[in-house]
Amino acid sequence: MKNIATKLVNGGKKEARQNINTINPPLHRASTVLFDSYSDMLKANQGKFEGIAYGTCGLAAQNAFEAAMTELEGAYGCKAFQSGINAIAMVLLAFTKQGDHVLICDNVYGPTRHFCDGFMSKYGVTADYLPSDAGTDISKFMKNNTRLLFMESPGSNTFEIQDIPAITKVCREKGVISVIDNTWATPLYLNPFKLGVDVSIQSATKYITGHSDILLGTVSTTEEKWAEFEKCCYIFEIFAPQEDCYQALRGLRTLHVRLKHHEQSALDVARWLVNHKAVDKVIHPALESHPEHELWKRDFKGSSGLFGFTLRDEYEDMDHSAFVDSLELFGLGYSWGGYKSLITGGRFRRNNSFAYEGKTIFRLNIGMEDVDDLKKDLEQGLSKLML
Ligand SMILES: Cc1ncc(COP(=O)(O)O)c(C=O)c1O
Repeated sequence: MKNIATKLVNGGKKEARQNINTINPPLHRASTVLFDSYSDMLKANQGKFEGIAYGTCGLAAQNAFEAAMTELEGAYGCKAFQSGINAIAMVLLAFTKQGDHVLICDNVYGPTRHFCDGFMSKYGVTADYLPSDAGTDISKFMKNNTRLLFMESPGSNTFEIQDIPAITKVCREKGVISVIDNTWATPLYLNPFKLGVDVSIQSATKYITGHSDILLGTVSTTEEKWAEFEKCCYIFEIFAPQEDCYQALRGLRTLHVRLKHHEQSALDVARWLVNHKAVDKVIHPALESHPEHELWKRDFKGSSGLFGFTLRDEYEDMDHSAFVDSLELFGLGYSWGGYKSLITGGRFRRNNSFAYEGKTIFRLNIGMEDVDDLKKDLEQGLSKLML
């Protein structure tokens, strides 16, 4: 007969190990994972244990999410991270060493650039910035020590598209690892591996989880690049929160339906904005007016719900405030890919020549609201601008 404190510590343990066949994976909360035998522990001590030895080794929900993403991406393997920017940072760390040079497309997510300039530089890795619409012309930017090339296509603020197959062809010839942040298209609308990319990154924070309540990232690679990447993740003991992986897996189940809705509503709003007298340019890859529209048509299967626009030059910052602050259905906040419509606005600086230099680009995340209501809200907001 056990005493009370022992009962409290051990009660229900046997029942908790039951293998119940639910549709969704179990949610484990664990640092310690118990071994069945001392010989298993000895194997784990030597790094030879095949099973899960610790909470950072990948518990059920994380493994299930990573497996689902691997299949969706057509990758060899996938790792989940605590956020998209963590995923990006790990790729840059895993594939470079002191003295290397990396090429980064000019339109990447700001913190990607900050990580290169503010952190990688401390370890002797230098970065140069490619034109955002780079293609075959990239050879001239390559150096003897160029190790990695990072694309974001379309860029999530200014929406330029790179000629991915042309870039990956040069990368392969020169032994340079090609990486893409594929968050805008998701694996549903762009398959980077079919275009010769080595490493594909998702901020699962956006469309995959879809509800603006989770931060999560993924990195998927080809077979050739997996061992090097996995080794780095093993050393850092990378893991992702189980609850978030569970929600991300749930998000995947409806991703195709949500994405279609985002796509159609965003196109509807974009076409409507084209004809609005206050609007100067609408920047949406699926519109024929987009400079790389032909590349988008060639490589992508669809467009998502994020695009930009500029207003006519005569409007000042104060007019911009009147417009943005009067919107009722568009939240004013960062990130995107969720069910709620959002707006951001800002000016962007680029290393290379840039069509929107000094111009404010407004970015809309078109959510799941009724599209006519969204247009009415924009109409009333834009009416505050009228001179
Ligand atoms: C294109 C792109 N990549 C990566 C990230 C970073 O993702 P997270 O917010 O999950 O760190 C963002 C965030 O806005 C993004 O827009």
